[in-house]
Amino acid sequence: MIQQFTTKRDIIRGFANAMNLISPEVQNHHEKVSYLCYRLAEAMGMPEAQKRLAFFGGLMHDIGGVLKEGNVSLLELERNARGVSVNGAKLLRMLPLTDPFASIVQESQTPWERLKRTFKTLHAPQRIGQIVHLADTVTLLLNDKESALNQVDHVKECIHNIGEREFGPEVLAGFDKLCGIEAVWLDVVYRPEIFLDLITIDQSFSLDETVRLTEFMSKIVDFRSPFTAMHSAGVAATAVALAELSNMSEDECGMMRIAGYLHDIVKLKIPNAILDKPGKLTDHEFNIMKEHAYYSWILLKDIRGFEMISKWAALHHEKLNGKGYPFHVMKEELTLGSRIMTVADIFSALTEDRPYRRSMDKEKVIGILRGDAGSGLISGGVVELLIDHYDAINARRDAESRAASKKYQQSLEKAREA
Ligand SMILES: [Fe+2]
Ligand SMILES: [Fe+2]
Repeated sequence: MIQQFTTKRDIIRGFANAMNLISPEVQNHHEKVSYLCYRLAEAMGMPEAQKRLAFFGGLMHDIGGVLKEGNVSLLELERNARGVSVNGAKLLRMLPLTDPFASIVQESQTPWERLKRTFKTLHAPQRIGQIVHLADTVTLLLNDKESALNQVDHVKECIHNIGEREFGPEVLAGFDKLCGIEAVWLDVVYRPEIFLDLITIDQSFSLDETVRLTEFMSKIVDFRSPFTAMHSAGVAATAVALAELSNMSEDECGMMRIAGYLHDIVKLKIPNAILDKPGKLTDHEFNIMKEHAYYSWILLKDIRGFEMISKWAALHHEKLNGKGYPFHVMKEELTLGSRIMTVADIFSALTEDRPYRRSMDKEKVIGILRGDAGSGLISGGVVELLIDHYDAINARRDAESRAASKKYQQSLEKAREA
């Protein structure tokens, strides 16, 4: 499989953009926290490896908030900060690649007084957790609309008023140093995108690593709503099976898997009341629902290596007769990959249990798919290919969905033990 598929920088930018979509009222919050964390770690004299841990800890500190439904308001995140950090740690423990950040995120809301009581000596996760806690607080005190440098004294005063209840002497000393460096405040208020410049070595990710990372992202979407749990895993499995049967290359099958994992990623933005509604959506609700396909495109289109993936993922609600959404592209623009993704999405939805109905039986699923193909909505070729291998594909979809569920349960247990 492709060795240099995408870059760390692109994935990080994509992740930050996803977090921004979920909490639109806290634009660039994660970029800012991430940037400040790195600078704080630097001011505290930490080695490069720890500065990087601080950077990623800052970037992911709110990830547990996405388990809550709907747009997550800043106020909500703050009110439930402890729950957010514990849930975040659980999610991050699911993957060896993100596991090193789990303990940092877990401690990222812990007040200094409690840390002092709980730990005899503070190790990296607690020290960096303190950095994230302070950077988060500082970011929330800053106002984008005011002059950057004129806010520093006020922020400093607030942080010292909160004082040693929340923050230890080490992180407070680092913060005082930062207060004297104008460029840091100009960066964080006016140019939060500068956080990407801190990734000096732009390491690349192989296709294989990207598959694993996006699998992790898909779990966040799936477990947001227990009713759609494992949907992304099921779509990915079905899409890959159909891609293989269509003689797509191994690399293309890997990309198909990523598109399956990410096709509904922006459902994180949509309230569960709409996602899980048993009946037909009202026009108002459907308009909100339609946003997810559009934003998949916005989120994925600029990631290197994702040129095809972004189309496959974003066009999964388009129809061959131009009556889908949100772009209304016609069949000439719907490549085989896009056609497969649409069929895989419908097939997975029909064969999954939903709160308002059990999974459908084979006859019924075939009837619906052939009906849609007959009406010129979806590809008849792909539908027939699926029907020819129905039992094998369905078994694979079911097995991968179950495996995804098991993995998730195990990570929860691991988190409980930790
Ligand atoms: Fe969708
Ligand atoms: Fe879907």
